[in-house]
Amino acid sequence: MDKHSVYQTNSFYWDTKGNDFLGAIVLPSYGAFVSEEKCRLFGDVAGKKMLEIGCGNGQSLQYHGERQASELWAVDISENQLEKAAQHLQSCGLSAKLICSPMEEECGLPVNYFDFVYSVYAIGWTTDLEGTFRRIASYLKKDGVFIFSWSHPIHKCVVAENDSLVFKKCYFDESWYSVPLVEGELKLSDRKLSTYVNALAKAGFVIEQLIEESDEAMMQSRDDRSDLVKKAKMLPVTFVIKARKL
Ligand SMILES: C[S@@+](CC[C@H](N)C(=O)[O-])C[C@H]1O[C@@H](n2cnc3c(N)ncnc32)[C@H](O)[C@@H]1O
Repeated sequence: MDKHSVYQTNSFYWDTKGNDFLGAIVLPSYGAFVSEEKCRLFGDVAGKKMLEIGCGNGQSLQYHGERQASELWAVDISENQLEKAAQHLQSCGLSAKLICSPMEEECGLPVNYFDFVYSVYAIGWTTDLEGTFRRIASYLKKDGVFIFSWSHPIHKCVVAENDSLVFKKCYFDESWYSVPLVEGELKLSDRKLSTYVNALAKAGFVIEQLIEESDEAMMQSRDDRSDLVKKAKMLPVTFVIKARKL
């Protein structure tokens, strides 16, 4: 895997077509079918300094801004996403410090500074999970909290066929692959859950909560016959981890 080619391919996508499917993966939703309203992982963020990794269009920053967070910061690889985020926040009467950079690279963020670092469906795009978690640990104060969601790796291995779920991909395979899209492509690797857990431990985090659930109320708002809902009734399609810097 050549990280510069991944940056180029993926940032091109997020700069152009990527905006089209953003929306379902902003707080209070962690993705299908997990909600902050039910999990309550953040608690009271009033007066807290928040950093989002891969902020997209800025709606999760808005969520924390409206809950009186004292500072909003974010890093994203895509100039266009950041432009959208800045416009969106301005229209809500909020502002944030927005930095355009791959999350895995040094980008001038302050260290030992943030109360919370969080990410909603963006961490998995990193080309260097251990390095990214080390950087995130460095941005947090001692006892600071890191919360992130991503596709559950089991969900990526299984497809719905009629009323059954069929294993189509090897759970252990973490190699990078190309996702062909109608216009363009994305490059991605499906990491095992243990890869995330072990990388967190190595970076100096202790895991406080691992969420694997499919919220019934959220599923009811989707077409009951969709493959995603069929899957979500039998396995977690999203996972969320809350970890604390030691
Ligand atoms: C699926 S979106 C989720 C963003 C946000 N939750 C939302 O819905 O607006 C993933 C975001 O991660 C960003 N991204 C992808 N790879 C990245 C990287 N290596 N470093 C920083 N940001 C990255 C993309 O530009 C995109 O804004």
